Amino acid sequence: MYLGLDLGTSSLKGLLIDDQQQVIDSLTVALTQSRPKPGWSEQHPDDWINAAQSVLDQLKYRHPIELAAVSGIGLSGHMHGVILLDQAGKVLRPCILWNDTRSHVEAAQLDAEPAFRQISGNIVFPGFSAPKLLWLKKNEPELFKRIDKVLLPKDYLRYWLTGQSISDMSDAAGTSWLDTAQRCWSEPLLNACEMDINQMPTLVEGTQISATVRISLALRWGWTDSLIVAGGAGDNAAAAVGMGIIEEGSAFVSLGTSGVLFSATAQYRPAPHSAVHAFCHALPQTWHQMGVILSAASALDWFAKLVGASARELIAALGDKPVAPGQEIFLPYLSGERTPHNNATIRGAFIGLSHDSDRQAMTRAVLEGVAFALRDNLQALRAAGTDLQSVMAIGGGSKASYWLKLIANLLGVQVNLPAEGDFGAAFGAARLAMIAATGLDPAEVCHQPVITEVIDPDPLMSASFEQAYQRYRNLYPAINGVQ
Ligand code: XUL
Repeated sequence: MYLGLDLGTSSLKGLLIDDQQQVIDSLTVALTQSRPKPGWSEQHPDDWINAAQSVLDQLKYRHPIELAAVSGIGLSGHMHGVILLDQAGKVLRPCILWNDTRSHVEAAQLDAEPAFRQISGNIVFPGFSAPKLLWLKKNEPELFKRIDKVLLPKDYLRYWLTGQSISDMSDAAGTSWLDTAQRCWSEPLLNACEMDINQMPTLVEGTQISATVRISLALRWGWTDSLIVAGGAGDNAAAAVGMGIIEEGSAFVSLGTSGVLFSATAQYRPAPHSAVHAFCHALPQTWHQMGVILSAASALDWFAKLVGASARELIAALGDKPVAPGQEIFLPYLSGERTPHNNATIRGAFIGLSHDSDRQAMTRAVLEGVAFALRDNLQALRAAGTDLQSVMAIGGGSKASYWLKLIANLLGVQVNLPAEGDFGAAFGAARLAMIAATGLDPAEVCHQPVITEVIDPDPLMSASFEQAYQRYRNLYPAINGVQ
């Protein structure tokens, strides 16, 4: 048995698989984000531990024998957040999350130093870890002085499970402190933030053993004290492992809180000029590129809350077949945007409203807006040397086939829907645990799921979608000029 724990932005998930990779059980505990000020987004790490305990207690209640037979744990989690520990290992403040843009000034300052793009291979985006530390130094100087260790979100779960400060390459690549080609911390980049390497966790590959669980926890859930925890991965790399996206050219689109267009790459291919992310993959000596938009399913959730309906109801009202985009256009920049604009202060907009703009038309516009933004990401990936023929769809939003049809039309690629089941980050984390515990060949473990639905672009719709996309493209500079 292997256990994957995925710390998502909206929930923590535990997933148990057997040696044949059959899912025994999976369950989630909801988490919330607090937004104490505009542009801020935080979670308290205590909530993650409580959620993990609750998931494990429920698994023990439902499958005591299987949980006790676990021989490896894999971790995955939202990236870029910082957990600051003092010398006694105490958490100094709530975690500043990946979609928190308070440190955009510091991000621009670091990004202007050529070493950051050269060594980390990425723009220093405001949500990344390094600018957050610079912000803390300016705004919470007393706390900054007390920082003994900086951990990434899933690595705080590991710290609780094992007592060790360890991270993996894929997650570390999102800090702006990693030498992404060499797969090691960069002292010059750390020093630029007045940090040093002793404040950073040790690095392992996602498929390596990182540490073993603490005895007290092993006793609580019926494990042996030699139970290993694998390196694991940032949530996107973990999801890719879950879907067997490990070879050059294989790709996924994820419609979660954020939206991601992800492609595995055989080599390290940095392309900061096009605002794509070039990170280490979870398997040794592999990398990936991705475009990230900050609001995807969260844009639909925002609109649903506003009109007092559920996202599911809103989508159901649209029927099954996309119609040509109407006058209403939505720009989904509710938390600012990463790829392709790298603009933390831009905000969303509805354009082209009329007396006829009803709930349905505006729902359509929200879904189209996210699809337009993903098309921008495809252009960015192309400019970075990666082209896609097909993508696998994952994340909560992928349940909406209407949305996937829009994406197929706009991206002009085939969208594949895996068989009903769990192939996301928690499953990928469980696979990494399996590889670490058994030494099996990753290519053998990470096969792709059965595809149950293939959505092709509709050639009859392509002209109208293209036209609407061009309108969308023209709107960014216009709203950027007035916000
Ligand atoms: C990736 C990113 C998000 C988070 C949350 O760069 O910021 O995808 O990992 O899922």
